[in-house]
Order: sequence, then C-alpha cells, then structure tokens
Amino acid sequence: MKTLIDAERIQQEVARLGARIAEQYRGESLTVLGVLTGSIVLLADLIRCIDVKVRVGLIQASSYRGKSVNPGELSINMELLPDIRNRRVLLIDDIFDTGHTMQQMIERVRQHGPLSLTTAVLLRKLGRSEVDIEPDHACFEIPDVFVVGYGLDYDDDYRHLPYIAALEDSDL
Ligand code: IMP
Ligand code: MG
Repeated sequence: MKTLIDAERIQQEVARLGARIAEQYRGESLTVLGVLTGSIVLLADLIRCIDVKVRVGLIQASSYRGKSVNPGELSINMELLPDIRNRRVLLIDDIFDTGHTMQQMIERVRQHGPLSLTTAVLLRKLGRSEVDIEPDHACFEIPDVFVVGYGLDYDDDYRHLPYIAALEDSDL
C-alpha cells in the first residue's frame, strides 16, 4: 500500500474547505448531508471547520461495486434524511469517480425541495467521469487508482486509516 495523501495534508485541505463553505453561507444555516458510509470521516472533520449554524443529516447509498459492473445499480435509503424543505443543503461524499452516485443523490435530494444544493467531495478521480455534473468543491484530484482510508474502503476494510493510500495488486 502506498500513501497518496498524508493525514496532515487532509486536515489542512478539509479546514480550507470548511472556511470556504462558512464564507459562502455566512449568516445562514446549513444542512450538511453525508453519504454513508464513505463520508463519515470527512463529515466529522468538516462540520467542525464550518463556523456557521450547521445541522447534520445522513443518506445511505450502496452500490453493488464488485458484484456488478453496472453503475446504475445503486440503492439509496433516504430514511435518515431530516426535513430539508427550503433549507440550504451541502451534500458530501468521499469520492467522485464515475459521478453516477453523486448524480443520483442530487436527483433524490432535490425531490425533497431544498432551497439550494451544493456538493463537496474529498477526492475527485481524474479522467473517470461519465456524467455532465461536477462536484462544486473537491479537496484533492487523484489519478485513476483504487484508494482507501479516511472513510474509503476496500471490502469494508481500511476506512479508519487517517490518510489516503493507493492499493497495490499485492493488497488485493
Ligand atoms: P461513482 O458513482 O463511480 O462516482 O462512485 C462513487 C462511489 O464508489 C464512492 O462513494 C465510493 O464508495 C466508491 N469508490 C469509487 N472509487 C473508489 C476508490 O478508489 N476507493 C474506494 N471506493 C471507491
Ligand atoms: Mg461510497
């Protein structure tokens, strides 16, 4: 396993993102929606860097990656969503890869009538997007490698690592 982004750089960029978001929503209140499970570490760190009134909500998205190559197969559970009607919402996820997850989450969240909706991810993989949308904020752009840590898993392992590492063939 090779470290791609160390813990200190992640903390710096997350703090910068939090400051930018606080600036954007100054004087307003914001609902930060995290996508389970990959965004939990980013969610926990980011909300502590956003100096405006923040509410937190969760959505669950499970893709059948590994069992299926069809990117359309995403199951979304909105049962944990708080009331977001007429509220400003920031949707966050761990990574924007093909973009299908983000695109479908945006569609589902919009159905609940937010006043505004912006998106942020920790990582954006370059050259992989298959959709017309882009995340509004991304802390890091990375090459097309499989990464783990800081919430991202491989087979439900490695989420707890405080840094981002690229998996090598010998790790699989
Ligand atoms: P997308 O729909 O292709 O953008 O994929 C987004 C989801 O796939 C993320 O929320 C992750 O759960 C997962 N994913 C994509 N790339 C990686 C990776 O390199 N490591 C771990 N999970 C990934
Ligand atoms: Mg995920």
